[in-house]
Amino acid sequence: MRTTPGRVFVVDDADALAREAAEEFERRAAAAVASRGRFTVALSGGSTPRRLYALLTDPSASFCKAIPWSRVHLFWSDERHVPPDDPQSNYRMARETLISRVPIPADNVHRIEAELPDAAEAAARYDDELARFFALSPGEFPRFDLMLLGIGPEGHTASLFPGTKALEIRDRRVVENWVPKVNAFRITMTVPVFTRAAAVQFLISGEDKAAIVRAIFDSEGPDDALPCQIIRPEAGDLIWLVDRAAASALPAP
Ligand code: 6PG
Repeated sequence: MRTTPGRVFVVDDADALAREAAEEFERRAAAAVASRGRFTVALSGGSTPRRLYALLTDPSASFCKAIPWSRVHLFWSDERHVPPDDPQSNYRMARETLISRVPIPADNVHRIEAELPDAAEAAARYDDELARFFALSPGEFPRFDLMLLGIGPEGHTASLFPGTKALEIRDRRVVENWVPKVNAFRITMTVPVFTRAAAVQFLISGEDKAAIVRAIFDSEGPDDALPCQIIRPEAGDLIWLVDRAAASALPAP
């Protein structure tokens, strides 16, 4: 049986998953700001992070006050090729549930300009933003303090879908990716960016992820590698945070 690298935590339910993720977010933010004066985090898309953002912004919880928002820099691992006010926009979801509710400076929100007609141009501009912010030389990759990721039912993560071009790219940080499954372009960070991260945390919740979670943790051999299995920080933490519903198809320990 293939052993999936990283640390796997199975928690009771979606609320417990959000709490664990919020505690990790706060811990890593405090450590990064203490050592480098800033915390760089790449948000995932999709709906799973909603509960996390609700907890991070809940004035009755400790996180909102404890996190040094003025030192937090938000990026996105991927974005749909839509304007920022489109219901499909990952940025819009984060703006409504997180950004608009915490004292984070506008300059600390590094949005993908997915409204640009040409997805390749949007990717190139985001690549330039990464190079500027992280002061990267050509060919150098950023090291995010934390990268949050979800997985899709067929094992995609960010907008790295099985069989798509972006999955093979190793010499660029951000690319446009035509995704036949959704019949649309996406803009996505590439595998080497995740490889370089100080921490990648997968947030996986719900019965609808049970089959793919089993495929991830129960698959045989390297040639079965799904996009979410290719993501392995070389010198960083890989954390799988899974709730019981999503882990329900795993063989009993
Ligand atoms: C996106 C995401 C994608 C997402 C998974 C899980 O833009 O859709 O980046 O990789 O994280 O599809 O989505 P849910 O959290 O909605 O299940």
